[in-house]
Amino acid sequence: MARQLPPLVGRDTDLLTLTAQLCRSDTHLSTVTGPGGVGKSRLAAAVADEMTRLNSVTVAVVDLHGATTAEEALRAIADSVVDNFGCLIGERANVQEIAEKVPDGDVLLILDGCEQVTENLALMVRELLSWHNEVISPTLKA
Ligand SMILES: Nc1ncnc2c1ncn2[C@@H]1O[C@H](COP(=O)(O)OP(=O)(O)OP(=O)(O)O)[C@@H](O)[C@H]1O
Ligand SMILES: [Mg+2]
Repeated sequence: MARQLPPLVGRDTDLLTLTAQLCRSDTHLSTVTGPGGVGKSRLAAAVADEMTRLNSVTVAVVDLHGATTAEEALRAIADSVVDNFGCLIGERANVQEIAEKVPDGDVLLILDGCEQVTENLALMVRELLSWHNEVISPTLKA
């Protein structure tokens, strides 16, 4: 990945645990929680790098800082899918349309800052996962 991050300090166990979880075929969703500034985004970035290295996973990071409504979150997810997979998604795309644009193969979708979306995010993620498994049949992990 092109990002230049300072080295990850003291999170080896968390990195291993989370990566192992995401590698399981029956795990489609993992959540990282903790107080502000504790290192959730940094850990997620490390997991993304590790998953890319280990599994030919395509990582799409969605920055949800600043998104508060479901519509804004959906747009941010669509933008990330467009950026990462080079597809076209209309301005008012629904979850199904977005899921169908995610290509075959394992995809790791990182919803960074999702706690700020106070509206229906869990439902949206559930729908995204269901469409993804049904329509494209790889795993989509957040
Ligand atoms: N294990 C770590 N090793 C090195 N740097 C770290 C580590 N954890 C966090 N940092 C650094 O500390 C700062 C805060 O971390 P980060 O942004 O990941 O926290 P966060 O939990 O995501 O915060 P927020 O809840 O505000 O989103 C960043 O500059 C990050 O690079
Ligand atoms: Mg963060």
